[in-house]
Amino acid sequence: MTRFKALRVHAQDKSTVARFEQLGLDDLSPGDVVVRVAWTGINYKDALAVTGKGRILKGYPKVPGIDLAGTVESSADARYKPGDPVLVTGCNIGEALDGGYAEVARLPASILVPLPHNLSLREAMAIGTAGFTAALALRRMLENHQSPDMGPIAITGPTGGVGSIAIDLFKRAGFTVHAITGKAGAADAYLKALGADQIVARQSLEMGKRPLESALWGGAVDNLGGETLAWLTRTTRPWGNIASIGLAQSHELQTTVMPFILRGVSLLGIHSVECPRPWREELWARLSGEWKPRMLDRLVTREITLEDLPAACEDLIAGTVQGRTLVRVAGG
Ligand SMILES: NC(=O)c1ccc[n+]([C@@H]2O[C@H](COP(=O)([O-])OP(=O)(O)OC[C@H]3O[C@@H](n4cnc5c(N)ncnc54)[C@H](OP(=O)(O)O)[C@@H]3O)[C@@H](O)[C@H]2O)c1
Repeated sequence: MTRFKALRVHAQDKSTVARFEQLGLDDLSPGDVVVRVAWTGINYKDALAVTGKGRILKGYPKVPGIDLAGTVESSADARYKPGDPVLVTGCNIGEALDGGYAEVARLPASILVPLPHNLSLREAMAIGTAGFTAALALRRMLENHQSPDMGPIAITGPTGGVGSIAIDLFKRAGFTVHAITGKAGAADAYLKALGADQIVARQSLEMGKRPLESALWGGAVDNLGGETLAWLTRTTRPWGNIASIGLAQSHELQTTVMPFILRGVSLLGIHSVECPRPWREELWARLSGEWKPRMLDRLVTREITLEDLPAACEDLIAGTVQGRTLVRVAGG
């Protein structure tokens, strides 16, 4: 195979540097399937990896990109043949394995998901890890008996990739959705269009300090961690579920056991990267069917090329981006 373009991150002194390079297949981590990448996206982790603001990559040099969708070019595994459309989200690509920020990926067959019939490669990446994670949160909350009559779902970081798709999914599942955002005013039209019933300015929150505050939320989807997640534990109604997804504010959590033992609140861990294979298949089937986001066109706020990635990753870290940024690698 001829050489192909990739954005690769190298260790340099005590930091890292990302640069475009021409690679050959053997520069990539081992795998039995070669995929011609059509689309990828930018997730928070990708932005950390490319900008060097977070130690996401395990070993250098490495191609970041935790999601990709494309077409099989060659396969040593009988389950795949040239021309098959496939997608990968998580499964350690763009972390321990080389990922989607290249024209070609070489991957273990075990992590590929055949593209569901009702999704295009572009739609799969508009959903990406962000949508998959939001769907995993909905699945876990429903399994733990979350229902619309328990009250509104608070979604934090709602203008981000995960939060935006969570609004769409939870609204579609019949829940009332309150979007708690740092961009109130500026993002109101966007959030309302996705389905938010109310928009709450994060800066206006009065969090209180008591172990239990007034119970406001039927449940919550949290992308921030830190004091926001602690406050959600104090303000979720009896038997409500909080899906802990992210740490955009902080990785810390300081709360008490009171919400758990006096209100029966559940804190559900969401770990999309190593989600068990049967759940992964089930969630992609749902995301291409009854849970397919209705607002994909609105969710994709930017479409860029590989060359634009370094600047676009800086924007994401700066917190100025709304929705999903799609990266066209060779997509039509
Ligand atoms: N557990 C998993 O499997 C999993 C999977 C995917 C992502 N994640 C994590 O989930 C989080 C969201 O991911 P994403 O891809 O949606 O990221 P994103 O697109 O960057 O969205 C994050 C959102 O959080 C808010 N935010 C950003 N910086 C903040 C800060 N310093 N303080 C408070 N709020 C801040 C912003 O929303 P507003 O301006 O609207 O408030 C921003 O749009 C990240 O922490 C990511 O690492 C976890």
